[in-house]
Amino acid sequence: MSHMALNVDQIREDFPILSRKVNGKPLIYFDNAATSQTPQSVINTIVDYYSNYNSNIHRGVHALSQEATDLYEASRQKLQEHFNAKRAYEIIFTSGTTHGINLIASGFASILTSEDEVLVSALEHHSNIVPWQMLCERTGSQLKVIPMNEEGELVISAYHELLSERTKLVFVNHISNALGTINPIKDMIAAAHNFGAAVLVDGAQACPHLKPDMQDLDVDFYVCGAHKMCGPTGIGILYGKEEWLQKLPPYQGGGEMIDQVTFEKTTYAGLPHKFEAGTPNIAGGIAFGAAVDYMNAIGFETIASYEHELLSYATEKLLEIEGLKIYGTSDSKTSVISFNIEGIHPYDIGTILDKMGIAVRTGHHCAQPIMDFYQIPGTVRASFAFYNTKSEIDALVEGVRKAKMMLS
Ligand code: ALA
Repeated sequence: MSHMALNVDQIREDFPILSRKVNGKPLIYFDNAATSQTPQSVINTIVDYYSNYNSNIHRGVHALSQEATDLYEASRQKLQEHFNAKRAYEIIFTSGTTHGINLIASGFASILTSEDEVLVSALEHHSNIVPWQMLCERTGSQLKVIPMNEEGELVISAYHELLSERTKLVFVNHISNALGTINPIKDMIAAAHNFGAAVLVDGAQACPHLKPDMQDLDVDFYVCGAHKMCGPTGIGILYGKEEWLQKLPPYQGGGEMIDQVTFEKTTYAGLPHKFEAGTPNIAGGIAFGAAVDYMNAIGFETIASYEHELLSYATEKLLEIEGLKIYGTSDSKTSVISFNIEGIHPYDIGTILDKMGIAVRTGHHCAQPIMDFYQIPGTVRASFAFYNTKSEIDALVEGVRKAKMMLS
């Protein structure tokens, strides 16, 4: 399907926040990689839950509890279909991407030994670095880094050299949050499997732009959060292959994750409940399903094609500004532009843009090793979503020009 099918004016009407003003100017929201905006249909789902059937799931015989449970589990099934997981119980609800990563890291603490190695990519967010460092400290395993190149791509030949019989786990993001690079994860997963290693993919930045297929990727673990894909904050999923989820111990103890409890011994519930201790974010789980419905109704091919057009347009226009350098220049890239202007601190550009109602992120984007690689303190990052427009990009370019004039 071509991007012509995307009616951006109509889509923008679905998002109440897009009509607000910031600092007296119409909001131009280019911080989508940090969090996306929420359409009215998803907001309505949350209001409906609290207005009409707010109750705890899996616990009551009463009607409200049954309604909430049915909708929560229906949402899990929707997510199973969306991600093409083989079974609904391979979808574990989490509080977000970071939670999913920590759950797996904690589980592997009882599996890894000091003989083992784990590989992490140089393009990772801190949330896909720090939990593995903590894991290696606990287990004595070695953390090795898959290097990156100047374009912001992983050096795949080095990855192949790092893989060995000692490799037990590989962590890589599907798309880099700081640079937008799309990593060749399918090939990377296959290569890791040749050595019997498991792979965890951080899909936080990919899920807003494409529809990852768990079975086709043959990935062992895949994590993402709803708030990057038009859903609420505080809810996400961990996909895990059944055989791995059976093998790993529970992450947290509590209600709902047990089978039988006595003071002598507790047996655990089956999947997915084994990993879902405590009362979850029920409204969030249901709204995540609504967000996926919303995006699928537009269509991921349509979204990707339109966003690619925004990316090409913005790249071309921004590069016309003298002294502007873009970090992350891979051909395989999503709608994220990280840039600096020579001699100007990114924070100052971001502050001036904010005065014009333009929201961007500035700083290291929770990816300090990438900034160290380029020897910069940070960047200005503009990240586009399918509800952004070319005229908003024109305003950004104009704003950056003005900021440059004011700060030079
Ligand atoms: N990981 C999010 C970002 O890149 C918060 O902005």
